[in-house]
Amino acid sequence: MKLSRILSNQNGISRRRANVLLAAGRVCVDGEVCKEGSRDISRFREVRLDQEIIQQADPAHYLMLNKPAGYLSATRDPIHPTVMDLIEPAVRNHLHIGGRLDRASTGLLILSSDGLWSRRLTEPRVKIPKVYRVTTAYPISPDTADRFAEGIWFDYEQLRTSPARLEQMGPAEARLTIYEGRYHQVKRMFHAVGNRVTSLHRERMGDLVLDPDLPAGKYRPLTAAEISSID
Ligand code: URA
Repeated sequence: MKLSRILSNQNGISRRRANVLLAAGRVCVDGEVCKEGSRDISRFREVRLDQEIIQQADPAHYLMLNKPAGYLSATRDPIHPTVMDLIEPAVRNHLHIGGRLDRASTGLLILSSDGLWSRRLTEPRVKIPKVYRVTTAYPISPDTADRFAEGIWFDYEQLRTSPARLEQMGPAEARLTIYEGRYHQVKRMFHAVGNRVTSLHRERMGDLVLDPDLPAGKYRPLTAAEISSID
């Protein structure tokens, strides 16, 4: 709900008065002054007017999972195990996946019960960098980095991918940073330059970095700093 609506729905504050209070910097969202009445605020955020609580934050779950190969990024599937099978049942309900990984792909997967928050991870216009370690079937050709930097034309969507950065790590190994999360994007980019991805591991999404202490198949809650890095 818009912040101005949250304010005016409570305590009989009029729309006009809500705007005055916002402009005066008297409204805080999760402890930080917010002056934008048009900002969408989920039920997981605390809203205060001066010190008074206007909206109590519902408890939300924000998790990072080290996804192993073989699990689908889906909530349920009749054939394959899904990433939800790795999450304890009490937490699993209502979780959204913030940026899917293919069944064979591994690494950083973000899950949250705050749908608004997890959508920001994948919205193309937000352009959060996603960093992957890639190995390929054939040596990576010298022009691949330039082709990816120019953007690859995707016929199906009729669009060019945003400039991506390829850092070569070995003859058939690279670190690739992309700024969208289109369907099979990394595989399709390599396919377009005549190569094939044989393994794909996500290391990072924005400031969310896969915790090196997290074994494959395990998850941990995000820290407050990690959660607010996606705002
Ligand atoms: N791009 C892909 O092709 N697969 C993934 O799992 C993630 C990005």
